[in-house]
Amino acid sequence: MAEMQQNLDIAQIEQEILRCSSLGELESLRIKYFGKKGLITQKFAELKDLDPNKKKEIAKELNLFKSSFEENFSIKKEKLENIELQQVLLNEKIDPSLFYATNERSLGHPINYTKDRIIEYFRNLNFDLCVGPLIEDDFHNFQALNLPEYHPARDMQDTFYFKDFKLLRTHTSPVQIRTMLAQKPPIKMICPGATFRRDYDLTHTPMFHQIEGLVVDEIGKVNFTHLKFILEDFLKYLFGDIKVRFRASFFPFTEPSAEVDISCHFCNGEGCRVCSHTGWLEVLGCGVVDSRVFEAVGYSNVSGYAFGMGIERLAMLTCQISDLRSFFETDLGVLEQF
Ligand code: DAH
Repeated sequence: MAEMQQNLDIAQIEQEILRCSSLGELESLRIKYFGKKGLITQKFAELKDLDPNKKKEIAKELNLFKSSFEENFSIKKEKLENIELQQVLLNEKIDPSLFYATNERSLGHPINYTKDRIIEYFRNLNFDLCVGPLIEDDFHNFQALNLPEYHPARDMQDTFYFKDFKLLRTHTSPVQIRTMLAQKPPIKMICPGATFRRDYDLTHTPMFHQIEGLVVDEIGKVNFTHLKFILEDFLKYLFGDIKVRFRASFFPFTEPSAEVDISCHFCNGEGCRVCSHTGWLEVLGCGVVDSRVFEAVGYSNVSGYAFGMGIERLAMLTCQISDLRSFFETDLGVLEQF
């Protein structure tokens, strides 16, 4: 019995379990006592040779030991499993910022690529690169651009509003206003950026990108002819050998206003599905800055012109992409084609 006591010290085994620092060590301990040749397994086997009274007494002791061991063992096992799981999770953490290792270099995302090409053209002509906030207020996005409250032209741009009269800018034109309020003329700037409208179908997404341009100088120094020249030259730079036409149109912030079309480079102007069989593709809006816009920013004795274009549309036409959604799906198979 003395020997048995020595081997079956419950407090000691508790300590042994507590000291285990890995599931492996814990398992070794289990084998030491309860494996096929384990200390306790052996003692259970020896029971059959004992006389009935002794057998009962020792069996009781053994079972007590066994259940105490099992309880401590399962508590410790759960703890160690948790620790090891945390360790695995930590080691297997995916780092999405890691670069995708490849030898091939693409031109980048079609939107960035197109945007960069457009910026490059205007930077070469010394246009400043400006930015503005995505969350705008009614004044900069509408009112100062000659779009007073209840003006029907507001319907052209279905807007996301916040509770506090703030909104997601529907175009990059508010950056014209911010630039004019912050600087004195002359101004020569472009502003690329994200814009938002409540639109979603095959050719519209709620978030899209525009580039805005604005030139302001002393009265008489800039006019529609300059605008026409620069946009024609720009579109030939972007599309190559195409024809350009200006169509009279309406924008509240310009007067006169025009929409600009290029001859369809898919069918050489003969008419196809892309140009809806018209031979022409609409690519941007522009005009001579309306005097009310200058009034709103406190400018006088100046004239200017402005233009705005959708980057997705230009990217679709230059990279020959027919599905707008492919820009936003980050499908490497698609992106690698560029
Ligand atoms: N802001 C217009 C739009 O989103 C685009 C535009 C048209 C901008 C003519 C201009 C402009 O600066 O002169 O539809």
